[in-house]
Amino acid sequence: MDTIKGFSKLSKEEKMQWVASQFAEDAPAVVEEWRTFWHPTAAQQQVLDGFSENTLTNFPIPFGVAPNFVINGQNYAVPMVIEESSVVAAASYAAKVWMSRGGFHASVVDTVKIGQVHLLWEGASSQLFEHFEAIKQQMTTDAKAITERMEARGGGVLSIELLDKTEDESNYYQLKVSFETCDSMGANFINSVLESFGKTLISYADLHFEAHLSIIMAILSNYTPDCLVKAWVECPVEDLIGICRELEGKAFAQKFYTAIRIAEIDPFRATTHNKGIYNGIDAVVLATANDFRAIEACGHTYASRDGQYRSLSHCTITDDIFRFELEVPMAVGTVGGLTKLHPLARRSLELLGNPSAKELMQIIASVGLAQNFAAVKSLITTGIQQGHMKMHLHNILQHFNAKNGEVEATFKHFEDRVVSFNAVRNFLEARRTSIQ
Ligand code: MEV
Repeated sequence: MDTIKGFSKLSKEEKMQWVASQFAEDAPAVVEEWRTFWHPTAAQQQVLDGFSENTLTNFPIPFGVAPNFVINGQNYAVPMVIEESSVVAAASYAAKVWMSRGGFHASVVDTVKIGQVHLLWEGASSQLFEHFEAIKQQMTTDAKAITERMEARGGGVLSIELLDKTEDESNYYQLKVSFETCDSMGANFINSVLESFGKTLISYADLHFEAHLSIIMAILSNYTPDCLVKAWVECPVEDLIGICRELEGKAFAQKFYTAIRIAEIDPFRATTHNKGIYNGIDAVVLATANDFRAIEACGHTYASRDGQYRSLSHCTITDDIFRFELEVPMAVGTVGGLTKLHPLARRSLELLGNPSAKELMQIIASVGLAQNFAAVKSLITTGIQQGHMKMHLHNILQHFNAKNGEVEATFKHFEDRVVSFNAVRNFLEARRTSIQ
């Protein structure tokens, strides 16, 4: 691979040519293949190109839908963007199971977001704290131009705290700022306010202090434990009868409960368990063009809040009532960011009835819980591979360029057999030879 100067200044055509020439035997064919993934409408492609830099083409991931999600009594068909087979099928399965058992319940605990200004102050701690009320007033006044519109929408800065962190690092102090950002995720708003606060701090210090104050950085925290949503399902244990062939209601409830306990106490299991939850959460977050990295980072920190990484979901069986609950922090928006700019994200939000950020949090948490329910149900009954590999069979068949008759024959053959790449290859080879 060569190095290149000024790559970003090249036209898209030149970028494609250069990159393809670096690795492909048939560079024009690769460029042509990339071109086939462009949006057919130039204006739409321009919108997509505008989201990132050095774009060559688009990378499609399936956009599917999980119907029959009853959440707080309302029915949703939930858009999901995910490449892993069986995730949408599993979510749809769980939606159907709970549709006739009261549906999903969800509520937002709170929506507080956090930002920090990290600073070094070389003077006496007491001096900074004595001036803090005046500094706070000045910061609030100076940031008015940024906060005004958010305040008109009912949000803004909720509180500003000065924290002495010098026990951890000499001269280190922190402004911990709480925000309400209404229907927007709020990253730009929060960062703009924090940077303004930092500037005010510097100018205040220049004017009033002898000792040196410097800003290290001003940035939101993606850990928002108080931007929290709960989703749960519950029903009498006896109503679990019929959920699966393998276990009757009470035995199912008990085995399910134990599986969740294991994820509460064992970090190795908890990681996979929570990954299953994020299979659902990320898919909806992506479909609505929200920031899945922020949401995952936040959730995993929350899962370790008592010092050990644990399950985000919990199960209880009390007085013969089975209850399965997910409590998860997440900062999402239904305005701002790409939510309305990405044409498919806009449609996803329309499909969900243009929810508020709070409603979207409830939908996403319900899908995360549904995903978790379906995965754990499979794990404690048939095992995960049966459903997973059946779905994966499509991918394997595509790999072998299976034709129509072959697809049906293979699905039939593997109805009661274990699917594996080799097993499918052997079956197809044998079938192709016998037909010749
Ligand atoms: C696979 O993507 C997700 C699961 O491993 C989750 C789990 O084990 O709970 C099935």
